[in-house]
Amino acid sequence: MNNIEVLSTIPELRDRLGQARERAALTGADTRIVLVPTMGALHAGHLALVRRAHALGDIVVVSIFVNPLQFGAGEDLDSYPRTLDADLAALANENVTFVFAPSAREMYPGGASDTRVVTGEVGSLYEGAARPGHFDGMLTVVAKLLNIVTPDAAVFGQKDGQQVFLVQRMVADLNVCSAIEVVETVREPSGLALSSRNRYLDEPQHTAAQALFAGLSAAAAAGPDGPTAALAAAHARIDLEPLVKLDYLVIVHPQTFLVVPGDYHGPARMLVAARVGTARLIDNVAIRLG
Ligand code: PAF
Repeated sequence: MNNIEVLSTIPELRDRLGQARERAALTGADTRIVLVPTMGALHAGHLALVRRAHALGDIVVVSIFVNPLQFGAGEDLDSYPRTLDADLAALANENVTFVFAPSAREMYPGGASDTRVVTGEVGSLYEGAARPGHFDGMLTVVAKLLNIVTPDAAVFGQKDGQQVFLVQRMVADLNVCSAIEVVETVREPSGLALSSRNRYLDEPQHTAAQALFAGLSAAAAAGPDGPTAALAAAHARIDLEPLVKLDYLVIVHPQTFLVVPGDYHGPARMLVAARVGTARLIDNVAIRLG
């Protein structure tokens, strides 16, 4: 079990990171800092991010912050699980150096952020269409965290595929120096992607939610027959579940994240979002078409 230092203010965190950098410079050690941004309610998917962070660097910083800016009116900001003690216990054997757990006031002293990162077209599609402003809020806090920690790398999960795409775009567009690393989605044995929001599901909903990955897998198998066949295969599985209220099911180009035309051949990503009970669930898989 390692001694994690839990810090809640930006100056404290910067100070400790500065000291660590100075110590490393004195000994000639190559100290790489890796950030794992999270909103807490940690599960095995987050621990996979932390383990990748260890493979990339020496000092691992896990941020735990439920970012109000990325929640819309009527969303689950108030009920989003805040489980700091359990999160620290989950990280206890993961060799994390710092947990940064700021308050909303620490991150947004003026109550909100006057200056925001605004996404381009892709930010208003799919999750962005269902959750207006979500990606601007997410990118704004990610930009702030990258500026606070100035890590060599930051690690994100592929489950939030559109988020990963937009973070990579922001880092390229704004010439941010941190590398962005992506870790494959961690799934339950049933195939259901791990998500902090799975805890909102009761047992029948949990069983129904498994149709999402089953649908994506059916689509991937039908991929050689083209986009229409892949979409039909996914619908045939997901539409069987009355508890799954499908929001969108689309196939996008991995480089543009725009919907592929019906005659597209090549690598793509299928994205799905659905409401199951009160939980909004998303998932995605790589798919080869044609
Ligand atoms: O994926 C998340 O948990 C959040 O969107 C992130 C990246 C921590 C920003 O608040």
